[in-house]
Amino acid sequence: MASEALPPPCVAPRVRPVTLEDLDQVAALELESFSNPFARDALASELQRSWARVLGVDAPPHGIVAFVDLWLVADEVHVINVATAARHRRRGHARALLQAVLDMARVRRCASVLLEVRPSNRAAIALYERFGFAVIATRPRYYDDGEDALVMTAKVR
Ligand SMILES: CC(C)(COP(=O)(O)OP(=O)(O)OC[C@H]1O[C@@H](n2cnc3c(N)ncnc32)[C@H](O)[C@@H]1OP(=O)(O)O)[C@@H](O)C(=O)NCCC(=O)NCCS
Repeated sequence: MASEALPPPCVAPRVRPVTLEDLDQVAALELESFSNPFARDALASELQRSWARVLGVDAPPHGIVAFVDLWLVADEVHVINVATAARHRRRGHARALLQAVLDMARVRRCASVLLEVRPSNRAAIALYERFGFAVIATRPRYYDDGEDALVMTAKVR
């Protein structure tokens, strides 16, 4: 019997849930992206929490190159962390993740998506503003180094 040609591998990035097998990559991403990164164990705990979801951008052959960690809190979605590997930035990966978060919030009939961001983080603020997030409050000295946090929210309904 003649064997059929295999389809070409899918190389387009796609958003999918992060699994335990991805944790080394996600921990490395945390390390290069944040001054106070989640350790691998903390990330593993996130995967176990019924109220948490961790989504990643899988970009073959690189594996997970961006991720978002979120919590489902009553009728709100709280974005805990979002990061893209430095070499893979400005390719729309965080945009794909934010879109997935907003889609999830809509499907779950959540009222809003909420997050904290440093006022100095112009890249992240520009990203969030593209999705309609607006500043609703400031949390003074929220971060370990004493920087304030801006609380930003986007309405879903
Ligand atoms: C913020 C971050 C997640 C963006 O990830 P990314 O995958 O590069 O973002 P995208 O390519 O999807 O960019 C989407 C939009 O965000 C904005 N943006 C992203 N990076 C930007 C930058 N360096 N400067 C200005 N705007 C930026 C732009 O509007 C961009 O759209 P454009 O490329 O069409 O102009 C990434 O820079 C990162 O991981 N930073 C370190 C971790 C961090 O600060 N996370 C946020 C914590 S609150």
